[in-house]
Amino acid sequence: MKVLLEVRNLRKYFPVKKKTFRESRQYVHALEDISFDLREGETLGVVGESGSGKSTLGRVILRLETPTDGTITYDGNDVTSLSGKDLRAFRECFQMVFQDPYSSLNPRLTVGNAIAEPMRIHGKVRSHNEAKSAVSEMLLRVGLQPEMANLYPHSFSGGQRQRIGIARALSLGPKVLICDEAVSALDVSVQSQVLNLFNRLKRELNLTYIFIAHDLSVVRYISDRIMVMYLGQIMELAPKEQLFETMYHPYTESLISASPEPSTKTRKGRIILKGEVPSSLNPPKGCRFHTRCFKEMPICSETEPELREVAPGHFVRCHLCAEKGRG
Ligand SMILES: Nc1ncnc2c1ncn2[C@@H]1O[C@H](COP(=O)(O)OP(=O)(O)OP(=O)(O)O)[C@@H](O)[C@H]1O
Ligand SMILES: [Mg+2]
Repeated sequence: MKVLLEVRNLRKYFPVKKKTFRESRQYVHALEDISFDLREGETLGVVGESGSGKSTLGRVILRLETPTDGTITYDGNDVTSLSGKDLRAFRECFQMVFQDPYSSLNPRLTVGNAIAEPMRIHGKVRSHNEAKSAVSEMLLRVGLQPEMANLYPHSFSGGQRQRIGIARALSLGPKVLICDEAVSALDVSVQSQVLNLFNRLKRELNLTYIFIAHDLSVVRYISDRIMVMYLGQIMELAPKEQLFETMYHPYTESLISASPEPSTKTRKGRIILKGEVPSSLNPPKGCRFHTRCFKEMPICSETEPELREVAPGHFVRCHLCAEKGRG
């Protein structure tokens, strides 16, 4: 499959406000050395606990945040240095769908105007009629009726509002949708309807997805490959079936053991991790996961493991795998 987006050694540090003048500047290490390829037509799921950097990854790719370091290559160009016209063109290809469409939809705009707004800003529609027919088409695409264009967001249910958010994201004809907890706020039955909509849209419009969620069963349902993040780093990245059958990283094991449909490997019981998630202001030395790991070895608190390809397409950041590789 063709590589659409190539992310290499991506870092994002957020400076923290100093409390006193003499205090040295501190940084939240939100993303640390992130490298992966996004392939055309795939759904790449991203999972990890709160604060692991999932949303920051999405925002940096969309250039809503500037990366501290690293490159993001799309169509042969480094996106991190785009500006002006080129940045606008790039933004048409990448759109985000958020968790709560209610807060991202302006309550004073009719749904039709909300969907037409990006098209107007990017000069995609020239007349009122052109906008109206484009909006009707978008509404039908996401399973709503064209007449709904005249209503305001408050008259819709959560699932319908999420469909409106999707229609708005689709209005510029993007290639990639970054869905950030896009179904997390919905009831389970509505969740599966919206997930099915994402699957249908992907087929009809040849879309590529980055699907961020903390709910592993949602990610398992929709993804082709899954990326597991912990404190700003990729801990494991593999095709979905492979991850559920032969996960290597103890963190992945703990996540899967806690999901409603655990794998054969983790079916023995739920793994409860010790301690709290450390602060990303001051991540642990060595492996970032070692303070909570149930398979910790002496090397883990000393040396940071690298992300290594342990089987074709299966990447792991863990000293255990290095041991296996040597043995
Ligand atoms: N604008 C910002 N300024 C300072 N720190 C930030 C900013 N945005 C994110 N962070 C920090 O970066 C880290 C990663 O945050 P992020 O929102 O990407 O995590 P997440 O995986 O999306 O979490 P959640 O599951 O809760 O949405 C956190 O420690 C967060 O506090
Ligand atoms: Mg988030």
